Amino acid sequence: SGTSGAPVASVASGRQRSEMPQPVALQATAQANANIALVKYWGKADDELIIPNASSLSLTIDGLGTTTQVTFHADGAVQDGSARVDAESTSRPMPQEQGLCGDGHESSQDSDTLIIDGRQHSGKALHRVSDLLDRIRELSGLHAPATVISRNTVPYAAGLASSASAFAALAAAGSRAAGLNLDPKDLSRLARRGSGSASRSIYSGLAVWHAGHDDVSSYAEPVSTIMEDAAEGAVAEDFGMNLAMVVILISNRKKSLSSRVAMRRSVQTSPLYQAWIESCGRDLHQALAAIGHADVEALGAIAESNSYGMHATMMTAQPPVVYWQPATVEALHAVEELRAEGIGAWSTMDAGPNVKVLTASKDAVRVCESLRERLPELDIRVHEAGKGVRILDRTVDNS
Ligand code: DP6
Repeated sequence: SGTSGAPVASVASGRQRSEMPQPVALQATAQANANIALVKYWGKADDELIIPNASSLSLTIDGLGTTTQVTFHADGAVQDGSARVDAESTSRPMPQEQGLCGDGHESSQDSDTLIIDGRQHSGKALHRVSDLLDRIRELSGLHAPATVISRNTVPYAAGLASSASAFAALAAAGSRAAGLNLDPKDLSRLARRGSGSASRSIYSGLAVWHAGHDDVSSYAEPVSTIMEDAAEGAVAEDFGMNLAMVVILISNRKKSLSSRVAMRRSVQTSPLYQAWIESCGRDLHQALAAIGHADVEALGAIAESNSYGMHATMMTAQPPVVYWQPATVEALHAVEELRAEGIGAWSTMDAGPNVKVLTASKDAVRVCESLRERLPELDIRVHEAGKGVRILDRTVDNS
């Protein structure tokens, strides 16, 4: 795989470079998982800094993630990405739903190299990656081009690659490769600059992204930290709640409209948008209370209603954004049927046709099997709560 880099020389930061420039490569690899929001982020107060209009809550899940290796080529080191492209080149599709290939503008920066799932990318995808690398270069003082090699660990054909796992892994690997040692809060702020939802993939399990009002105040933290603070130092409990997500894959086609464009359109044109933002404040408050009481039923009901509310702002935008397909509606009804039978299962959807079903971990297999019986054509799988971002390999310090 492209993530196992050759041994590399390393320096701690640009400041420590010797007077005679030596070709050095600074490299790190990180793995991050996707997260599914229970109280959604939908709309920005600041497009440039990615400051949201409301705080959000999510569950990081396993099995849908990204592994990314970043190599900075300091002082004239040759970029070595092209050799790997040839070795790995396949006809695999690009990540689709919420992948790195969101909208944006053509890149003016051509010094970085981006390889996703064995294919080299330029244009919008590279531009978004280069923007985050620029932020890392700014913070570290390391002004060197980089090669980014990224693999999505998606068990489905495609359609569930996530910008959250992609930018969380990029922020972690890139900052470490550049010699920065960011704490989780600063890593969350950095990941946010790549994609808002990535701010939450830094953490395992349940996380809240505090909307904040500027770059410093907008970051995510684990729900356990918030609950402990609220309880004023009470003994930490397990606030993970043993939740799972059953993912129903409806389509693996590239969506017609990126979440970035769709959310901007909802903010600008939906008459329901303001009511939606107000409901998010209430939903988050109630969701945290439900978590405090380990009340999965209450949390599920809030998550489902919040998701429908977000889609209502899309459907009432001009022109309307409708990600739903016929099978989406079937899946949503199937979840309702399960509940009518007394099985605890609640639907949530993001900017695409796929349906995710929140449930208690102990019920996940039963939920998955019942859904497979009702929806035999569809690919349905259980995803347990997942880990936060991790550095897999560190650069070797040869000083
Ligand atoms: C529907 O994080 O992909 O998944 O910040 O523009 O990159 P950008 O958007 P992104 O939006 C995710 C929206 C969502 C809901 C959520 O994850 O909270």
